[in-house]
Amino acid sequence: MADRRFEFARDLQLKGDLPAAADLLLQAIELAPDFTSAWFTLGGIREDLGDPDAAISAFRRAQASDPGDRHGAGLRLMRLGAEPLSGMSQVYVQTLFDQYAPRFESSLVGDLGYRGPALLFRAVLSVRAAARKPAFFKRAIDLGCGTGLAALAFANEVDHFIGVDLSPRMIERARATDLYAELDVADMLQGLRSRDDACADLILAADAMVYVADIAPVLEEAKRVLTPGGLVAFTTETHDGEGVVIGEGLRYAHAAAYVRAVVESAGLKLPLLEDRSARNEDNAPVPGLVAVAGKT
Ligand SMILES: C[S@@+](CC[C@H](N)C(=O)[O-])C[C@H]1O[C@@H](n2cnc3c(N)ncnc32)[C@H](O)[C@@H]1O
Repeated sequence: MADRRFEFARDLQLKGDLPAAADLLLQAIELAPDFTSAWFTLGGIREDLGDPDAAISAFRRAQASDPGDRHGAGLRLMRLGAEPLSGMSQVYVQTLFDQYAPRFESSLVGDLGYRGPALLFRAVLSVRAAARKPAFFKRAIDLGCGTGLAALAFANEVDHFIGVDLSPRMIERARATDLYAELDVADMLQGLRSRDDACADLILAADAMVYVADIAPVLEEAKRVLTPGGLVAFTTETHDGEGVVIGEGLRYAHAAAYVRAVVESAGLKLPLLEDRSARNEDNAPVPGLVAVAGKT
């Protein structure tokens, strides 16, 4: 009965009758008080109805009824200013990208004009050219490798590619490309921690740091894992304020000064930091950065 009311509420929500949808969700919740999806949907509807306090209380119930927080209620609470900024739930990221995997490339590349791997490729080549070094790498680690688009961009420049991603479905797609010698289903920080010192000369993160609030530990591990002279190249979304915020797209945006500071405190040099957008949203480029940091 609660499921049926939930389904009916979703229909009403899609048709735009938000007050009626909210009523039905409350009825579903009365029947099943820990109905996470109903609480989460109710939170979104209350937000759309312009009632942030009521939205916050619904998102809190969604979070409390699902410790893994597969819907990302914590993220919605952060965006509403009800919780301090912190990391995303790994279950949420995994669920999001497991669902997204079959249509990832058509949606991101086709619909959103995604260009993260090409930006990293051009940036790495220009840093290598400025240093008068060849752009050839023995071992590269692709953090948040997804379906393998970054490995495809660098395929002729890298001998041995290692991919790391939280989403098993994305890793399945990456495996099917045959571009990776090794693939790990893991959080990027854990993936780096499992690697030996000075084992890679290139680390890439194309549109992946946008799911990481605090990128400092990742850069510190990257420094340990890189060979001297090795590079870590990544894209971020950005904003004009200070530090890290959650953007409209529910991804983190890192200010340029923050990126400079964390690269420096990780003990890396920053030969390249440019304003470059990796994707469009609502037909406009999302403000972004491309960074190439190096180990001396
Ligand atoms: C937008 S996709 C980009 C994929 C790929 N790099 C590309 O350029 O097409 C982001 C990927 O990062 C992965 N991801 C997000 N947070 C992660 C984390 N903390 N550790 C490992 N992978 C993560 C997601 O599962 C997803 O596959």
